Amino acid sequence: IRIVLMGPPGAGKGTQAPVLSKYFQACHLSTGDILRSHVSKGTELGIQAKEIMDKGGLVSDDIMVNIIKDELENNISCKNGFILDGFPRTVPQAEKLGSMLVSRNEPLEKAVELVIDDSLLVSRITGRLVHPASGRSYHTEFNPPKVEMTDDVTGEPLIQRSDDNVEALKKRLVTYHAQTEPIAAFYKDQGIWTGIDAAQSPEKVSTAVKNSLGWEK
Ligand code: AP5
Ligand code: ZN
Repeated sequence: IRIVLMGPPGAGKGTQAPVLSKYFQACHLSTGDILRSHVSKGTELGIQAKEIMDKGGLVSDDIMVNIIKDELENNISCKNGFILDGFPRTVPQAEKLGSMLVSRNEPLEKAVELVIDDSLLVSRITGRLVHPASGRSYHTEFNPPKVEMTDDVTGEPLIQRSDDNVEALKKRLVTYHAQTEPIAAFYKDQGIWTGIDAAQSPEKVSTAVKNSLGWEK
């Protein structure tokens, strides 16, 4: 399967992508997780990106396109397909992804948008806990870990993302509506867009996404 999973901050991209990745045996590429791993390693890109991410802005298109190009070419877990989470995030990124995939003879099959009202996102974002190494996310109320502040799989501590506060979220939402939402029209024009109601339970959202993809592995 070759899909883009889009939606505003807190819509559930990072919650749904691992479920779909396992089901369809496709890689899950989260550009947010990739950037956060640069931040924790203290790379040059990480230092630049942290400042931008904490302010709710976007890292440059060229950098992000190169990251995805490199992953699609060299990450062997993507050979069988991919689920892109957080990329593309601007129309130029979507255009570049399109030409990259066409030249590889592997066009995008679907762009799945997790549709949800902004008013529901504050509680999702402020209650989120993440396991930095894997990108797994939990929620204090909606999806608590088995042991408080501890990752279910590794037993390692959970943290709060530095951009998960109300102020940064407001800016991330402004950026999303201005720069990322127009991608929906771009994919509607190509006839590959589908919208899913993301205000339902995580299980219902997973089922709705699989329905929209035809359940074909
Ligand atoms: P990124 O990490 O992609 O952040 P985002 O788009 O703001 O999305 P989130 O990760 O906040 O939300 P999500 O949809 O994954 O929600 P989740 O499933 O965790 O990007 C971060 C930053 O990096 C950007 O701001 C930008 O600066 C930079 N960046 C990244 N990609 C870039 C690019 N391509 N170009 C330029 N810059 C880029 O769920 C949220 C919470 O809700 C969790 O606690 C979860 O447990 C809970 N939850 C999930 N689903 C449900 C449900 N159905 N019901 C109840 N609770 C739920
Ligand atoms: Zn995410």
